[in-house]
Amino acid sequence: MSDAPVITVDGPSGSGKGTICSYLADRLQWHFLDSGALYRVLAVAAQRQHIDSNNEAALVNLAEDLRVEFKVTGAGSLVAVLLDGELVTDAIRTEHCGHAASVIAPIANVRKALLARQRAFHKAPGLIADGRDMGTVVFPSAVLKIYLTANVEQRAQRRYKQLKEKGLSANLHQLCAGIAERDARDSTRTEAPSKPAKDAIIIDTSTLDIDAVLANISELVRREIPSLSNTGG
Ligand code: C5P
Repeated sequence: MSDAPVITVDGPSGSGKGTICSYLADRLQWHFLDSGALYRVLAVAAQRQHIDSNNEAALVNLAEDLRVEFKVTGAGSLVAVLLDGELVTDAIRTEHCGHAASVIAPIANVRKALLARQRAFHKAPGLIADGRDMGTVVFPSAVLKIYLTANVEQRAQRRYKQLKEKGLSANLHQLCAGIAERDARDSTRTEAPSKPAKDAIIIDTSTLDIDAVLANISELVRREIPSLSNTGG
């Protein structure tokens, strides 16, 4: 196992994890694991093969043999996602796919099947790991664990803005309900529920703009990993 440092960033969708992780991966020039993308790709693959979310054996087989690639396309965090050689970077980002991912994510053997793939990202010079159970299960000995949170309304607003900016239609009320439903499923499941690790630093981003969150996290990185001098912020 690599002894390269790991920073975990966990939390619900819309809490700002993606932006923070991209920033850190770029600044530190570390590897980046978007574990949510893995669950999303699995959901797309299951849908394509008409595998029902109740069919645990087939889902586990699929997870074990999943032909997924993450290709770094630019600065550390810009990644193209391929399933069976086909680009699915945008296809996995829909609300529908996030929902489908959260329906299969509670299955313990599916999570187990994806564990080694996630740990394979742990390489020098270091790793930024984004997800729900990065600090609790996948990388329990991470050097810095951050848990980002924000209230549901704020997270729905952010998602609404993102969709509108992409020219896509969106309904704030539906987004809010969908996020709340996914939160509940992710945080109440028995296996690796979404929650802060005991030693995580919790940051509520509800009332903070992104620059304030970045400054806060840069300071944490400087304090917790003094050997890194190029964290910027
Ligand atoms: O983070 P993202 O919204 O892309 O994750 C999609 C879904 O995948 C989550 O709602 C959750 O159910 C699942 N997931 C998980 N464990 C992770 C990352 C994501 O269960 N480490």
